[in-house]
Order: sequence, then structure tokens, then C-alpha cells
Amino acid sequence: MTGQLNPQTIVFFENRLTALSEARVGILTHALNYGTGVFEGIRGYWNEPENQLFLLRPREHFLRWKQNCGILRIEVPPSAVELSEITAGVVRRNRYRCDVYVRPLAYKSSERIGLHMDDQSAFAIVAMPVSAYLDSSKGLHAGVSSWRRIEDNAIPGRGKICGSYVNGALASDEARRNGFDEAILLTEAGHVAEGASCNVFLVRHGKLIAPPASENILEGITRDSVMELARQELRLEVIERPVDRTELYICDEMFFTGTMVEVAPVIRVDHRPVGTGEIGPVTAELRHLYSQAAHGRLNAYRDWLMPVYESVPAQSRA
Ligand SMILES: Cc1ncc(COP(=O)(O)O)c(C=O)c1O
Repeated sequence: MTGQLNPQTIVFFENRLTALSEARVGILTHALNYGTGVFEGIRGYWNEPENQLFLLRPREHFLRWKQNCGILRIEVPPSAVELSEITAGVVRRNRYRCDVYVRPLAYKSSERIGLHMDDQSAFAIVAMPVSAYLDSSKGLHAGVSSWRRIEDNAIPGRGKICGSYVNGALASDEARRNGFDEAILLTEAGHVAEGASCNVFLVRHGKLIAPPASENILEGITRDSVMELARQELRLEVIERPVDRTELYICDEMFFTGTMVEVAPVIRVDHRPVGTGEIGPVTAELRHLYSQAAHGRLNAYRDWLMPVYESVPAQSRA
């Protein structure tokens, strides 16, 4: 996914641009001890013909981040637009001309022992070059996890709260050790929630089906983008409803969505082929459409993108 970053990489930390090597927190930091941080994940796509790097839906990501921070009573003062500008500045300072991943992180920053939460918090934004997260081009093999998805009343899964990712880490570790590419977590009621780090979709009888927000899922922005593409471009009916485990075994197609995994086809689940066992036509089309939109090649979705560099007319580039 991303390699070790050069310590001289410029990051936004304590309200200024600084070297990664200077961006350090103390061992007693509340978030480090108790998981009281909230993070985001945003992609930027390099468009070679336009000599431009596009951040994908940064405003939506920062709005989600600020809302989720509210769950932990963490205040991030800049607006979503200002945070997008800060991020573009970080990317420019590092002169990235490749696909990037951006990791905003807000956290309870007081350095003391004790669970209670005070108002002291801080945030950072790091941008890094990224390559493919999971090579999903040939389709993935997913396994239903023995770990259940955390309940909203225990740790809000929609919150992208650092501590809640122990749930996904355990499931992902188990899945990989058992020979799967990714885990699928069920709710305590036994319904399909999502992958360890991604949302899940099924295709049945020509309709797109996704577990609803009330199934303890993270309300994915890629999920939202893919629903819009399915409705607008493929004229598909999109249904949000509870999904049983065995529907995974009888569906026609299945795929994951997420900032990192993008649109990742699932061709086997629990050692059973999904549909024909090949990447299905709906999945292939949505994967292509999403990639086109994210790279700025679909005019109808250009408003999802924020250019990082000043546009230079093609003739004056040489
Ligand atoms: C647990 C979980 N579910 C779903 C997603 C997909 O969300 P998004 O499409 O906003 O990246 C992610 C990744 O961010 C995730 O960590």
C-alpha cells in the first residue's frame, strides 16, 4: 500500500507545515493509550495528460471527519474547505506527481493516565505516495470472519475511531492467516455488515444490494460514489437492506468498495465461487466507471475532484 515515508516528508502538524521527523507525540498521549483518535483516508489521483493531481471528494471526507470527531468531542476548527486547501498545500510542498493517500488524524492529546476525556486535542494531515492496496484485478477470495462487527452502542463503527480498528485488524489478520484476501464481518444479529476495511455490495437478479447504514457499517464515501454511478450510468436499481450470510453464497456478483480498495471484485467467498467464479459484468463496469471518474475522465463527475496544482494550458507545458 504505502512504503516507509522519508523523514523529511512535509506534513501538517500542530497548525504548521513541518518535517515528518519533527511530528512526534508523547508516550502518555491519551489517544495512544485509549484509542481516542479519529482518522480519515482520502485518495488523490495523478492525471498525466492534464499534468494534474486530483483529490477525490476531499470536502465529503473532511465533513465526515469533523462529524465523527464530534462523537469523541474533538474539535477541528478549520472548515472542510479549509482542510482541503491545507491538504492540497501539503501535496504541493512534497511535489507529488503520482497517486497519493492522505491520512488526516485528530486525537485526544493530553499526556496523562486516566480514561476520562478532556477538551485537549490536536490534528495532523500526512500525504504519501500510494500504489495498489490489494491487487484485486483478478478478483479476491473473501472469508466470513469469526469476529463480529462492533455495535454502534459499544464503539461507533461509523466513527472511524482509532480504537475501533482493533475489530478490523483482528478480522483481517485471521482472514489472511486462513488464506483469504479480506474478511467479511457479520453483525451480532448475523447480518452482513462489511469488509474489515471496506463496504460490501452484492448483485442479485440485476439489482445492486448493500447493507444499510444501520448495520454498523462505516458510511463509505466510495459506497456513495458507486451507488451514484450505478444509478446514473447503469440505470441500476440500488437497494439498501439487511443481507443474510447465505446470500453471499448465492449472489450473482460481489464486490468491495473503499478509498483504498476502490472497487474490488470478490470471486470466491468461504471457498465457494461467487456467481460464475469470474468477475461479473456489473462489477467490471462499475470498477471502470469509478476509475474513470476518480481520474477526471468523466465530465459529469468533475465536481468530485479538487485539482492540487495550478492548471497550465497544454500548449505552454513543453
Ligand atoms: C471499516 C471500513 N469500512 C468501509 C470503508 C470504506 O469507506 P470509504 O469508501 O469512505 O473509504 C473503510 C475505509 O475507509 C473502512 O475502514
